[in-house]
Amino acid sequence: MTLKFFIVLLIFATSSSESSKVLCIHTSFAKSHVMPMQLLAKELANRGHEITFISPFPLSEKVNNYRDVKIEISDRDAQLFEELSKKFTAGANIFKFAIELMNSLHRVSNDTLQSSWMREMMATENFDLVLSGYSMSEYQLGLADHFKCPSIVFWSGHVISSLTKMVGNPLSPEAVPNPMMSRKEMSFIGRVKNLLLNGLDLFVIRSYFNYRSKIIYDYNFPPDRYRSYDEMIRNVSLVLVNTHFTSSGPRPLLPNLVEVGGLQVKPNPAPLPEDLKTFLDDAKDGAILFSFGSNAKSIYIPEDKQKIILKVFSKLKQRVIMKWESDVLPGKPKNVLISKWLPQDDILAHPNIKAFISHCGYGGVIEAKSNGVPIIGIPLGADQKGNADKIVEEGWAVRLDMTDITEESLTNALKEILSNPKYRDIVGKQAILAKDRPMNAQDTAVYWVEYVLRHNGAPHLHYPGADLNFFQANSIDVILFIFAVIYAAFKVIKLICGFIFCRSKKGSNEKLKRN
Ligand SMILES: *[C@@H]1O[C@H](CO)[C@@H](O)[C@H](O)[C@H]1NC(C)=O
Ligand SMILES: *[C@@H]1O[C@H](CO)[C@@H](O)[C@H](O)[C@H]1NC(C)=O
Repeated sequence: MTLKFFIVLLIFATSSSESSKVLCIHTSFAKSHVMPMQLLAKELANRGHEITFISPFPLSEKVNNYRDVKIEISDRDAQLFEELSKKFTAGANIFKFAIELMNSLHRVSNDTLQSSWMREMMATENFDLVLSGYSMSEYQLGLADHFKCPSIVFWSGHVISSLTKMVGNPLSPEAVPNPMMSRKEMSFIGRVKNLLLNGLDLFVIRSYFNYRSKIIYDYNFPPDRYRSYDEMIRNVSLVLVNTHFTSSGPRPLLPNLVEVGGLQVKPNPAPLPEDLKTFLDDAKDGAILFSFGSNAKSIYIPEDKQKIILKVFSKLKQRVIMKWESDVLPGKPKNVLISKWLPQDDILAHPNIKAFISHCGYGGVIEAKSNGVPIIGIPLGADQKGNADKIVEEGWAVRLDMTDITEESLTNALKEILSNPKYRDIVGKQAILAKDRPMNAQDTAVYWVEYVLRHNGAPHLHYPGADLNFFQANSIDVILFIFAVIYAAFKVIKLICGFIFCRSKKGSNEKLKRN
């Protein structure tokens, strides 16, 4: 009895002394962007921290120390997202809709900051840390000033300029390809293109997004009561990105820009729902996963292509699990199972999965790689073409564009991936590389979050380069200064020489005259 009491007391004492209140906010409508941060938050909750998570996607299960706050998305924004998803799946260039998407994200986020429950939370609660999921949402950093606590930014994709700006990480355009480009394109012309792309990104796109974001910041965190937008961006303690050099290539990284790629790949896969488990366990010839992730949707695949895909599936001896966002799939073959939402990572971990037909979103690529599953890539847009090319180059995928899908091409692609052992061998080796780390992705992320908490925002990680403007950060001011000095020195020398030369000429002229 006393021992029990003592243990309870001990647990209570240790957990309370290390437990912190963390406010997580992620206002993206893309579930695949929110999910990795949710897994991090769950892990933090498991370790005794008190989590409040604001997002459109509450967890399906109850987790101790974890409070979900659901953001309601208006019909207008839900519709817009559906529209975008349709266009995106049909292969439209998503960048054309970037402004529309941003407006919508801003609306949702601004409404969230304005909501009565948020106002109440801001008036009555305290937090030790703000963990902000990035979705063109720098203005959320005002919350860190409100609660007078440090901030960490989480982003589920590649390292982008909005993030490097926060900590002053160099973009290194001389050797690091923009997410729109691939490494093999980095010849001289490629480097010119890369520099121009980065310039466009920094001076046009980001400047505009920044200008719009600042309006929301100033509205919600007025300058008479809060620190400025720019100040709060530079005050970010740490940025976590869901990439890893084994997938996206090495690049210079500051100590407070930490790669936690594969965060959503659980060290031990969670048990599958009963129907999926039986379907996969009984797949004696193996199974294939087909998913376009959460932003694109299979139901929006052009109808003629849908027919082809189903016809090819019906002729396979393998079983197919298909992410399909509707209850019905007319003409569904017997060997196909459909589901609106799939635990993708846990399915990929099943030993009977032989191939993954994917749109090559970065998350899916990392999950497939970590689980050693070869990919048939059908990239749609954004960074997916680059991701697909990269894994084709690494040798564990084939690429098949939506427009090129025919019965023959899809059958051939499947045959190649399923019967040529090369793909599985290579991705098996890649999986070993991806997992060989001092700590797995979850532990790395938790370690760094707790590091920031332990050291009160860890200001010693702040890189002085973060406070420099573009000209200073690239030493352009110093180079211009040196040129100016050289130029001035040259002018002075020329003047002096001219003077001496003139005098000596004069002197010799006089000499001549005298003679
Ligand atoms: C943010 O919300 C407030 C209150 O609803 C509104 O007045 C303001 O215009 C909104 N700002 C933006 C940029 O949408
Ligand atoms: C953020 O700003 C506060 C207040 O000026 C400062 O004490 C802290 O060191 C800053 N943190 C970082 C990481 O720059």
